[in-house]
Amino acid sequence: MENHNHPFYNPRLSYEENYQKGPFGDFTQKPEISIVNQPSVHFLGNKINLPFGIPAGPLLNGKYVKAALDWGYDLCVYKTVRTKKYKCHPLPNVLAIHPEHRLSENVDTVLADQNYDLPLSITNSFGVPSFDPDIWQPDMEDAVNYAKPGQVVIGSFQGTLGVTNHIEENYAEAARLVDETGVPLLEANLSCPNEGVNNLLCFDIDKVERIAHAIKNAVPDKPLMLKLAYFKDNKLLYSFLERLAPIVDGFCAINTLSARPVTSQGKQALGEDRPTGGVCGDAIRWAGEEMVSRLYEWRANHNEKFVIIGVGGVNSPEHYRTYLSLGADAVMSATGAMWNPALALQIKKALQ
Ligand SMILES: Cc1cc2nc3c(=O)[nH]c(=O)nc-3n(C[C@H](O)[C@H](O)[C@H](O)COP(=O)(O)O)c2cc1C
Repeated sequence: MENHNHPFYNPRLSYEENYQKGPFGDFTQKPEISIVNQPSVHFLGNKINLPFGIPAGPLLNGKYVKAALDWGYDLCVYKTVRTKKYKCHPLPNVLAIHPEHRLSENVDTVLADQNYDLPLSITNSFGVPSFDPDIWQPDMEDAVNYAKPGQVVIGSFQGTLGVTNHIEENYAEAARLVDETGVPLLEANLSCPNEGVNNLLCFDIDKVERIAHAIKNAVPDKPLMLKLAYFKDNKLLYSFLERLAPIVDGFCAINTLSARPVTSQGKQALGEDRPTGGVCGDAIRWAGEEMVSRLYEWRANHNEKFVIIGVGGVNSPEHYRTYLSLGADAVMSATGAMWNPALALQIKKALQ
C-alpha cells in the first residue's frame, strides 16, 4: 500500500533540523476531532486515559511531546537524554527496509532505500544523541507540565561510557537530572552497546543490577522502568528477571532488532562505518509480541507486579488489542505513529 502520510519526523533532514524545525505533517496543528476521555486506567501510581503512547526516540523535544499529547497519546516518552551533549550519527539516520522473509534475530541483510511504503519497517541509526542538561531539563519540565489529566510524560535516559569510572554512576546522575524536571516516571535505556564486547548492555546482568541499584539509590521514590532489547534465550531472560524484577517497577520491550541494511547495489546503506542498524516497525512486531508473552508468563509464575509496556510494530487498533491480550499493561508505537500521527485517535475511536 502506498503511503500518503507525512511523517512527523522527516527522514531526509538531519536530526538537528528535525529538532529545530519539527515536528512536521499533522503534528504542526491540533487534531480536528477530539475524544472525550475518562482517566480510568491505573499505571504506576498515575491514572491515565488509554494505556497507549509513543516510546523513547521519535519525540525529540518538548514541541514533539506536546503535539503527541494533543493528538491523544496518553503515555509520551521524551527522547533518551544523557548527562552531557552527545553527537548524532550523520545522515542517513532513517531508511525504509524491505525484508524478503520474516526478519530474524540473527542480523539479516535487508534492502534499504527511501520508499516509505506501508506497512513500514525502518532502520534507525542515531547513536542516541543528546543536548546538555541545561537545554533538555527546562524543556522536559515544560512538556511534563503540558500533560492534561489522564496523560503522563516519561523521562528516558542512559549513561555514557567513559564519563565516570563506572557506568552505573553516570546512569544515576542522569536519573537524578531527569528527576529534577518533575517527570513522574523514569525509564533507563539499556539497549545500548556494552563496553568492549559486541553485545548490548541489557544482556550483562551484573552490570544492569548495579545500574538499577544506583538509580534507585539516587531517586528512591520514583517508579523506574527498564527498556529492553529482544532476548533470544529464555534462560538469560529468566535470570535477568530474577535479579531485576525485585528492584524495578516495569519493563518496556522491545527496542530494535539488528540488521545489515544494504542498497540495491549491495553497498552498506548507512555508510562505511555503520554495517548494522536497528530495525523497527512492522518487521519486528513478532519479536515485541513474543517478549511481552514471555514477560507476562514469568510475572504470573513468580507472582511479581512489574508493569509491561509492549513495543514493536504497532500500527493499527488490532495490534494494540493483540499486545494487551498477550499481557501488556500499556502499548507504544514509534514507527507506526511517526507515519500515522492519528493512530492514538484511531485506536480510541475503534474502542468506543
Ligand atoms: C526515530 C527513532 C529513534 C529512536 N530512539 C530511541 C532512543 O533514543 N531510546 C530508546 O530507548 N529507543 C529509541 N528508539 C526505539 C523505539 O523506542 C522503539 O523501541 C522501536 O522503534 C520499536 O518500536 P516501533 O516498531 O513501534 O518503531 C527509537 C526509534 C525510532 C524510530
